[in-house]
Amino acid sequence: MPIALTDKERAMLLGTATQALERAYAPYSNFHVGAALLTHDGHLFTGCNVENASYGLTNCAERSAIFNAVQQTPGKLELRAVAVVNRNDVPCSPCGACRQVIAEFGRDTVVIFRGQKGYVEMPIADLLPESFRLS
Ligand code: THU
Repeated sequence: MPIALTDKERAMLLGTATQALERAYAPYSNFHVGAALLTHDGHLFTGCNVENASYGLTNCAERSAIFNAVQQTPGKLELRAVAVVNRNDVPCSPCGACRQVIAEFGRDTVVIFRGQKGYVEMPIADLLPESFRLS
């Protein structure tokens, strides 16, 4: 069962993700995105989107944060929450690829993103039912 975020955790994740978007490299879309994630053991990691002249090579902020966390985490990364923000303050839910990558590191991960009416929180299992699994 996903564990609801505290007000403090939510504020910390959104604030940290907002700082992370300052590092976004998005000269093609000009859509700057930041992500922050919290692990079950209380570690915080960030990421931003990194675009490329060969557009398909772009890495989203959420996956950048997760790949960063994996490299710095001994043992398996266990996600508690992921927050995503954008500089334009427009609705922006994680793309399908990022949902699959989030699901890899915890079916109970709480995802915070901007929906049509402000920020919403929902478990990754609701955002991506039937995620791909090898076992
Ligand atoms: N992007 C993210 O980084 N995360 C999302 O959740 C949605 C989209 C990025 C990818 C690309 O650099 C830009 O936003 C426009 O699609």
